[in-house]
Amino acid sequence: MVPADSWFGISCIVGDTLVSMKQSEIVKKRQGLSYYTAANPQIRALYRSGKRPTEFGNKVWATSLVLLDYLDTKPFPLQGLRVLEVGCGWGLLGVYLAKVHACDVTCTDLDEHVLPIVQLHARLNGVSIKTKRASFSELSSDFLEDFDLIVGAEICYCEEAGRDMTMLVRRAFASGVKQILIADPGRPHPGSKGQG
Ligand SMILES: C[S@@+](CC[C@H](N)C(=O)[O-])C[C@H]1O[C@@H](n2cnc3c(N)ncnc32)[C@H](O)[C@@H]1O
Repeated sequence: MVPADSWFGISCIVGDTLVSMKQSEIVKKRQGLSYYTAANPQIRALYRSGKRPTEFGNKVWATSLVLLDYLDTKPFPLQGLRVLEVGCGWGLLGVYLAKVHACDVTCTDLDEHVLPIVQLHARLNGVSIKTKRASFSELSSDFLEDFDLIVGAEICYCEEAGRDMTMLVRRAFASGVKQILIADPGRPHPGSKGQG
């Protein structure tokens, strides 16, 4: 039997081009969420208008899905928490927490070009998410004190990011943040001898 999403197609106009693709190339599903691939016409239109992420925020990374799976085990009460996602990329963790656990979510990233994609995902899933362009080092103690939980995935991929995250974790706990969950695949940093 052919799964429904492997044959169901859509057509739409992007600029003056008729785009027709299989649904499975455009929307993926996970834990009751929908999310786009880079083949999605709205994302392609953003890229063509010059809003193309430059810092690896070019897809939903698998590490996000690992953390999403973990959160789905409900490791502690998540309902209604004030959540900050850092290095959010396309914002799937934030969207999941807003949709499934009614969290009040803010997604932040160094790269402003990922933020419209976070909003596409929020709209696709019928939730409201705040977004803010900010690097790890720009997230001040005053800002951090408004959150209960910080999440992030695949964000310590170079030494500088790892260092800035370490300082962010210290500032966050000192500001009253209760939980911080960072998922990282442990790749070696370029030029380093050990694991990242
Ligand atoms: C590999 S992507 C991961 C995106 C997303 N968390 C995921 O798992 O799909 C890394 C993201 O971290 C962001 N990033 C990298 N360095 C950062 C920094 N110093 N401050 C804030 N965001 C940063 C990038 O712009 C990018 O969106």
